[in-house]
Amino acid sequence: MSAPAGRARRVLAAATAAAVTGTLAVGMAVAAPSSEAAAPTLGQLAAAKGRYFGSATDNPTLNNSAYTAVLGSEFDQITVGNTQKWMYSEPSRGRFDFTQADQIVAFAQAHDQIVRGHTLVWHNQLPDWVNGVPAGELLGVMRNHIANVAGHYRGKVVHWDVVNEAFEEDGTRRQSVFQQKIGDSYIAEAFKAARAADPNAKLYYNDYNVEGINAKSDAMYNMVKSFKQQGIPIDGVGLQAHLILGQVPGTLQQNIKRFADLGVDVAITELDIRMRTPRDAAKDAQQAADYRTVTNACLAVTRCVGITVWDFSDGYSWIPSVFPGEGAALIYDENFNKKPSYWAVYEALGGTTTTTTTTTGNNGTGCTATYRVVGQWNGGYQGEVTVRNTGAVRITGWTVKWTLAQGQTVGSLWNGVSTTSGQEVTVRNANYNGNLAPNGTTTFGFTGSSTGANPVPTAVCTTA
Ligand code: G3I
Repeated sequence: MSAPAGRARRVLAAATAAAVTGTLAVGMAVAAPSSEAAAPTLGQLAAAKGRYFGSATDNPTLNNSAYTAVLGSEFDQITVGNTQKWMYSEPSRGRFDFTQADQIVAFAQAHDQIVRGHTLVWHNQLPDWVNGVPAGELLGVMRNHIANVAGHYRGKVVHWDVVNEAFEEDGTRRQSVFQQKIGDSYIAEAFKAARAADPNAKLYYNDYNVEGINAKSDAMYNMVKSFKQQGIPIDGVGLQAHLILGQVPGTLQQNIKRFADLGVDVAITELDIRMRTPRDAAKDAQQAADYRTVTNACLAVTRCVGITVWDFSDGYSWIPSVFPGEGAALIYDENFNKKPSYWAVYEALGGTTTTTTTTTGNNGTGCTATYRVVGQWNGGYQGEVTVRNTGAVRITGWTVKWTLAQGQTVGSLWNGVSTTSGQEVTVRNANYNGNLAPNGTTTFGFTGSSTGANPVPTAVCTTA
């Protein structure tokens, strides 16, 4: 990858500084890489394709500096994961509270990230008082809620999930309090109210299990078609994409296309791909393939405007609490290491990586080192090596060695301790990432200089 120029290069430098801050937060002092040394982020790669790549987030994690270092640098879009919902934004009738959601919006603004608002009308996370509103008053209550919430965020939210999850799997309307007390017209009324409250926000209908062509997505399709015919203001549909390993619907791209052909935008709004835990290499590889398929399907349709993961780290996902025994659904692990699913998205968005794997070991265990050049430009490059314990027992330390045959150097290095002797580079674990359970991984990274060819070396891992 050649060196980015102008504003893009400054953004890259800022992203690198933030990533290094995250490394420091887990306890290792490293020198900051030069501004030449940054690999592009998913947000930057997506932007180069005219898309965004974002993450949902929730308030408690904003206090975790290792978490926010990634959230603030890797993504160019944020979705408010919980705190714009009614139970937070209108906890009692007519009393609005934007304290928590404002914190997320301020974080996004401070990091140059666009915001998807989520969500103005949903049957879930409703405070009890809503169920007690008399039928004749609920339309007014809903309109007032939308006017206040979308009004408060006018100009600060680029997309609103106006109505969320209004259909059952068979395509009939979900019997929510809004459906029961207002009737079929409540969705159109919500969109009209949202347009009045924030004329510039793009207004979305958002649902799950509508990624492929099926009875539920057909119902959504028919509704959007009829809204367009009637002039009801709808701008997009959100396909949540809470998917299961190996089960990306074969009709995903075709489905995106049919909505685009109706004249609305499409967004992948809540992507995660869950598996039975624990992870292993085969599941990781399938998950990477699945993330790649979803990313490619979006890129294949011009009106697919972006992708949002439903939080980015396996340590902060909703899945394990709702699907016991399942998880590992995201693109970073619990320790903020990038997973194969991250690299699949990275490559699908146009980033270049090169991989080599060599296995060796001692003590009857073993480890692999997967070496990637994640960014390369005139005079410099950034590399990352993922170490995996391939043995059956826990290891307490590892060493990775490779030879730089073309006069390259290794400069700043994080998540490991390096020594260089002539052309040979040796990296040992840092004091916090040598201990790996069977199949556990950790990743270290570095920047370096190269003046000519920079072939991928054979990196050898030993468990010592
Ligand atoms: O805030 C309370 C906290 O005070 C309390 O200590 C804790 C104890 O359980 O609960 C906290 O509330 C939880 C809330 O998330 C905030 O973390 C709720 O119990 C929990 O049910 C709620 O779950 C959210 C879920 O929506 C509710 O259905 C998830 O975080 C959120 O990620 C999830 O997001 C939804 C989208 O909005 C719509 N699409 C599906 C997606 C996944 O379910």
